[in-house]
Amino acid sequence: MSRLRVAGISKNFGAIRALEGVSFEVEPGQVLGLMGDNGAGKSTLVKIVAGNYRPSSGDLFVDGAKVDYHKPIDAQREGVEVVYQDLALCDNLSAASNVFLGREPRKNFAGFKIIDYAQMRKRSAELFAQLKSETRPCDLVRKMSGGQRQAVAISRTLLANAKIVMMDEPTAAISVRQVSEVLDLIKRLRDQGLSIILISHRMPDVFAVADNIAVLRRGRLVANKPANQSSPEEVTGLITGAIQAA
Ligand SMILES: Nc1ncnc2c1ncn2[C@@H]1O[C@H](COP(=O)(O)OP(=O)(O)OP(=O)(O)O)[C@@H](O)[C@H]1O
Ligand SMILES: [Mg+2]
Repeated sequence: MSRLRVAGISKNFGAIRALEGVSFEVEPGQVLGLMGDNGAGKSTLVKIVAGNYRPSSGDLFVDGAKVDYHKPIDAQREGVEVVYQDLALCDNLSAASNVFLGREPRKNFAGFKIIDYAQMRKRSAELFAQLKSETRPCDLVRKMSGGQRQAVAISRTLLANAKIVMMDEPTAAISVRQVSEVLDLIKRLRDQGLSIILISHRMPDVFAVADNIAVLRRGRLVANKPANQSSPEEVTGLITGAIQAA
């Protein structure tokens, strides 16, 4: 059974048709590379699956059950997490505090409920180890590289026991060495059985980790096929419209 099934999703913003009859599936342990030019509808699709927008028509299924999210927390409860490009981390806090932001564990101390920092440090160290990241719980996010920040953001999804993780341009603003770190993180999530949707304009990144590649052009899905049966040339043609569909 598919982890995620998107069935005939359309989305209008007034007169703008951002998505039109988009359908695809993602299995557990699979990475879908989602590509398309600026304005093709990628972020809109992510926001619909994440519960930020409701579709104008069409249905979403998670593990075979129809879902109808009214707000992001509804999607999060079902294990749908998004890592946005700007990451939304707090610069002035430690890695551990960022991993647990809004979900801090508490303990009793002299009759008070206080934040259990030791537990946060311990658990985030485990998560970083699980991701084979060198990030340390007490490191300040302000002093971190782009790749380390990605590790923190991705650890948040692990803590949440995510089933579906969507990443909108995670490698757009980081150095070459960090890109390979982030691609490794994506592979580790995949190996743990998560379903991943990776949005990227960077062809080599998508081909390095995606099992399937889907292409959106002006709101329509014009291809969805195994990466090993496609090529960067074909995908470029699909994105620009030089190739109609594949
Ligand atoms: N909140 C909104 N209100 C009105 N129009 C919107 C809104 N969000 C997106 N759109 C429009 O929907 C279309 C798809 O936008 P979307 O942001 O999904 O594209 P994208 O593929 O993510 O592009 P990019 O690569 O530039 O991030 C565009 O025409 C955009 O202007
Ligand atoms: Mg976008």
